[in-house]
Amino acid sequence: MCGIIGYTGGKQASPILIKGLERLEYRGYDSSGIAVLDGTNIGIIKTRGKVEALKKKTDGGNKPHGTVGIGHTRWATHGVPSDVNSHPHLSQDGRFAVVHNGIIENYAEIKSDLESKGVVFASDTDSEVIAQLAAYLYNGNMTDTVRAVCERLVGSYAVGIISTEAPDTVYAMRKDNPLVIGLGKNENFIASDIAAALEHTHEFVQLGDGEFARLTSHTATFFDRDGNRIEKTPYSIDWDISRAEKAGYPHFMLKEIYEQPRAITDTVRPRIKGNEIVLDKIVLDAHNVNSIDKIDIIGCGSAYHAGIVGKSFIEKYCRIRVNCVLASEYIYSDPITDNRTLTIIISQSGETADTLAALKLAKKSGSHTVAVVNVLESAIAREADDVLYTHAGPEIAVATTKGYTTQVAALYLIGLKMARIKHNISEDRYKSLLRKITELPEKVQHILDDTSKIKTFAEKYSSHKCVFFIGRGTDYAASLEGALKLKEISYIHAEAYAAGELKHGTISLIEKGTITIAIVTQSALQQKMLSNIKAVQSRYGSVLAIATPKTSDVGEFCDGMFVMPECDDDLSPVLTAVALQLFAYYVAADRGCDIDKPRNLAKSVTVE
Ligand code: AGP
Repeated sequence: MCGIIGYTGGKQASPILIKGLERLEYRGYDSSGIAVLDGTNIGIIKTRGKVEALKKKTDGGNKPHGTVGIGHTRWATHGVPSDVNSHPHLSQDGRFAVVHNGIIENYAEIKSDLESKGVVFASDTDSEVIAQLAAYLYNGNMTDTVRAVCERLVGSYAVGIISTEAPDTVYAMRKDNPLVIGLGKNENFIASDIAAALEHTHEFVQLGDGEFARLTSHTATFFDRDGNRIEKTPYSIDWDISRAEKAGYPHFMLKEIYEQPRAITDTVRPRIKGNEIVLDKIVLDAHNVNSIDKIDIIGCGSAYHAGIVGKSFIEKYCRIRVNCVLASEYIYSDPITDNRTLTIIISQSGETADTLAALKLAKKSGSHTVAVVNVLESAIAREADDVLYTHAGPEIAVATTKGYTTQVAALYLIGLKMARIKHNISEDRYKSLLRKITELPEKVQHILDDTSKIKTFAEKYSSHKCVFFIGRGTDYAASLEGALKLKEISYIHAEAYAAGELKHGTISLIEKGTITIAIVTQSALQQKMLSNIKAVQSRYGSVLAIATPKTSDVGEFCDGMFVMPECDDDLSPVLTAVALQLFAYYVAADRGCDIDKPRNLAKSVTVE
């Protein structure tokens, strides 16, 4: 996601801002910029590309001049990566400059309202509305204005604001996106995470949701959402800078596992308007949905596994045949596809060569293609007829976590929308599933709030040479991703198996010491799973169950059990994924593996 830095003090701001942005580069971005207040004028320099390009444009960070400023690295969500869409954004009258991290869900409404009042926008971003709104609402009192702006915004945001109306001052506000305040000696900072300011101060204050701050070189004042002053207690940080770039987590992978509630929220919430699912610019209506007689879902690795989960959901509710195909197999299979096939292409990076090749082949065959991608304007996003972005933010760890769960969430939205168009789902079931999809982030958070049991299991089994993951139906689909996670970061051989298939050969491998993780979330299949569990145990294999409260009876027959929060059977793969990501993470950590950069692997496989 985006990176924010802000400074007010006695030194020139530009070099501090540029250095802070360099500390935030690891977050992933496509453009950057700074705005500096020099008395009565705001100077802005911003550019698509790396901070290195920004350094050149600012003469190595020696301009603009001024001792108050804000800086930003942009991870594009609305509006292509470009100079004009880069932050900071300036209000039309040049008095307010803003940097923003997050998604303003009601930006279109605010933008059209301001345009009807004569405001001319410069960019295609959602973020620019904050600067234009501040100028429009300014009533002579900056603190009042900032509060009024917060009241109008719907969505998630971490924002830095400077204004010619408030020399020496940086304002900061946040909701659902992190923003820290750095308290220095005769200087103060704002930052998306402490890495950007740690070399200047070790004293920080975390802004709470809905709160905002007013910083000058010598003062830091905090307000609640109603504009009442509040006291905040600073805390000290003793991390080194590398730890700081992971926001205190030991690995990017663990940080990204913990980002999943936010990532799923950002992927789902902006697409749900009341009881309607609005898939951005994708036109899915009765005409085109009823003309589809087959859906191909194509991806590699975890993206393919997300497709398998999506297949199960879409077939159940849309009653359309769904093929989920490995991209590398699809491109050489002379696929049977035409204009009655909808092809859904899944890719976190949007650059995977096999997947891009499959996309081009599907298009050439006349199929309408929809890409589910995380990186804006990536090759696959540009090539597909339609794109539905996941809003997981940059994923640094090679092993995908939030990339996968947000892909599954996106497929749920596509499937549910199509099912309603085809009248294959009752209104009650539609509304119930829609509500439960929006509840997934809090259920994921519940798992994250206490990982001790999973960690204990992981450390108990981390020395084993082989682990089986078994499940039935959508649990089998979920087991595929669980096995891959364990393999790719711990180097333990792991195999996902349809539980009912074990007895047809593979069960000969089960012996004393073999670990089997049985995923049992499907109530209707619980008894079947129990007999598979017993079959493993009768060969002296150990079984660890991943269950929900509804299916937790299996625990008495297992060597261990992790019970996830109550969840709709059809949506359980998202929770199962988080539990098994944590299992794989703690096994790999116990084995001392290079978790963020596993041997032999690349984050994006851009060769066939
Ligand atoms: C997942 O943890 C792996 N890193 C890998 O399987 C990955 O999912 C696959 O290479 C596809 O990548 P993409 O989603 O960027 O296309």
